[in-house]
Amino acid sequence: MKIPFIHHKHSEESIHISEDHIPEHIAIIMDGNGRWAQKRGMPRVAGHKEGMSTVVNIVKAAVKYKVKVLTLYTFSTENWKRPKTEVDTILKLPKQFLHIYLPDLMANNVRIGTIGDIEHLPAHSREAVQYAVNRTRDNNGLQLNFALNYGGRQEILNAMKELFADINDAKLSLDDVDEQTFSGYLYTTGLPDPDLLIRTGGEKRLSNYLPWQFAYTEFWFTDVLWPDFSEKEFIQALEEYGQRKRRFGGL
Ligand code: FPP
Repeated sequence: MKIPFIHHKHSEESIHISEDHIPEHIAIIMDGNGRWAQKRGMPRVAGHKEGMSTVVNIVKAAVKYKVKVLTLYTFSTENWKRPKTEVDTILKLPKQFLHIYLPDLMANNVRIGTIGDIEHLPAHSREAVQYAVNRTRDNNGLQLNFALNYGGRQEILNAMKELFADINDAKLSLDDVDEQTFSGYLYTTGLPDPDLLIRTGGEKRLSNYLPWQFAYTEFWFTDVLWPDFSEKEFIQALEEYGQRKRRFGGL
């Protein structure tokens, strides 16, 4: 069933933080789809499909609360180890999602991006996301990034290789390499580092997600499984974030 993206009805949820305490960039590890399905005696893939509806709701919420960047861990380089049917299902979801929701994303001024090695995705996934990236290129609302075939260590190694190649070609001098230069070689080039990481599904680990970018990120974990995650928990995360004091190593 299509969930209307723009809804004019006022939500019952209310938020108790000021706009200047809203994280600019939120990264999410959407964990717990498989367990959600298994608890119901359904195949794991049913959980991933249900997880797509949560993505819609959380994108809506991010637009509503004026988050600038939302980066969703959709498929990691390690997820290839799963059974082929599950991998195939997950990799079909971006296309399905964009097929249904691209008009709504356009209407909401959402700009789509990707991080990860999308060159090695099946053509149908790669082409669907590339189409959406091009189509939404001039939008300047929420930047919605899908991490697809993403692995943090692989990202850092790739960045290093490209950086060394540029040094070799005398496009860059080793003395000029600082954190900012290095960040420019990562998939997230041009984006602010995430202010907040949300991980659902009860696990408290990073799973090779954005290791460089999370240096000063605030972490928020919940046992709620991703298909059950809603605007209510999203607001809870925003409120807790709003109360944290970020010192970035200072006092
Ligand atoms: C982790 O849960 C989830 C994934 C590996 C896939 C995430 C994908 C989605 C939420 C849908 C993507 C939607 C769009 C719009 C592209 P898990 O399977 O590891 O859960 P488990 O820990 O319970 O097994």
